[in-house]
Amino acid sequence: MAFANQSFLDIPETYLFSMISRRVDEVLRRRPDLRILRMGIGDVTRPLPPACVAALHKATDEMADAATFRGYGPEQGYLFLREAAAREEYQARGCDIAPDEIFVGDGSKNDIAAFVDLFGQHNRIGIPDPVYPVYLDSVRIAGFSPLQVLLLPCTADTDFALPVPDTRLDILYLCSPNNPTGTAMNRDRLARLVAYAREHGTLVLFDAAYEAYVQSPDVPRSIYEIPGARDVAVEFRSYSKTAGFTGLRCSLSVVPRGLLARTRVGHDVDLHRLWLRRQTTKFNGCPYIVQRAAEAVYTPEGKAQVAALIDGYRETTARIRAAFASLGNPVYGGVDAPYVWVRVPGGMTSQEYFDHLLERYGIVGTPGSGFGACGEGYIRFSGFSRPADVTHLEEVLRS
Ligand code: MLT
Repeated sequence: MAFANQSFLDIPETYLFSMISRRVDEVLRRRPDLRILRMGIGDVTRPLPPACVAALHKATDEMADAATFRGYGPEQGYLFLREAAAREEYQARGCDIAPDEIFVGDGSKNDIAAFVDLFGQHNRIGIPDPVYPVYLDSVRIAGFSPLQVLLLPCTADTDFALPVPDTRLDILYLCSPNNPTGTAMNRDRLARLVAYAREHGTLVLFDAAYEAYVQSPDVPRSIYEIPGARDVAVEFRSYSKTAGFTGLRCSLSVVPRGLLARTRVGHDVDLHRLWLRRQTTKFNGCPYIVQRAAEAVYTPEGKAQVAALIDGYRETTARIRAAFASLGNPVYGGVDAPYVWVRVPGGMTSQEYFDHLLERYGIVGTPGSGFGACGEGYIRFSGFSRPADVTHLEEVLRS
């Protein structure tokens, strides 16, 4: 009989969002008439931008014609997408990132979880708490012991931003705008973390999946807006939350040339080369038609349609924030990110408040404790909800 990967015994038995979906199904079995307001998982609810749909159709037609059909794509992704992304996402904002430093993936969850393949078991890894559970789960599944993982508390005192660690780390995960708290690091805070990483030789894995929601002028949309960051940071981007691709799957990981890791005997190795090596063995690329749809995000029509999509989600996020604030609950986030982080009313745990809202009103959030011990006492609501659900939420909370 095969031996199981023991690490699966050490992580929660069910993935956070699978647990929520099971809870909702269980309530619906008992109360099929309950109207469910889905504000749990951050899944988009509005259709794809028409420019992306047109690109999908055109690319599908190409795949149906022997003259234009394509099989396996280039290993790092098609150059048309990497060039457009380098130009529009980075160079247009003064970030020195070249197309050959970008890898196209099939979702930043996959990229972030896979990146851990590059690291030796003796690293000391810092992970903020609360945070997107994929970082910790994937590190644990890869076999890192709890002793090598330092959970770094982020609290309301710092608006949930990570303070500069007071110990040396080899690898540091960061997420800004943040999932789950919906807050975002300003330039000064991020610059201090980059300075820390440069001083200590720490590799930063920067999750920028929600950058498109940044509105505040002093909040960077990329870590590479901070001078010197390309020497210490990998960045992950996603089309899921920007352009509604949760069902299509397309992402970017940026691994700058010259970014180094060290072998046990002290030799430098190029992380870009290792990531390419990893991808060529374990990944066969994001579909051609999806990469064409992602490219369409950068056309003039695509840009206008994506901006409208994001404005729509910003509006639902602001309404959710206002609805909970009107109850007197302290409310965080929701300005530079599509998540609202609400303090649960006194005496209840995150899970109890989640159950209360679900059973009583059909409102589905995500218990803060699912994102780490420091998330206890909070609940997250997703601004990707349908406007009609938000209207219903407003009515329910007013009543
Ligand atoms: C979330 O709700 O945290 C996200 O939708 C999960 C994800 O993007 O994988």
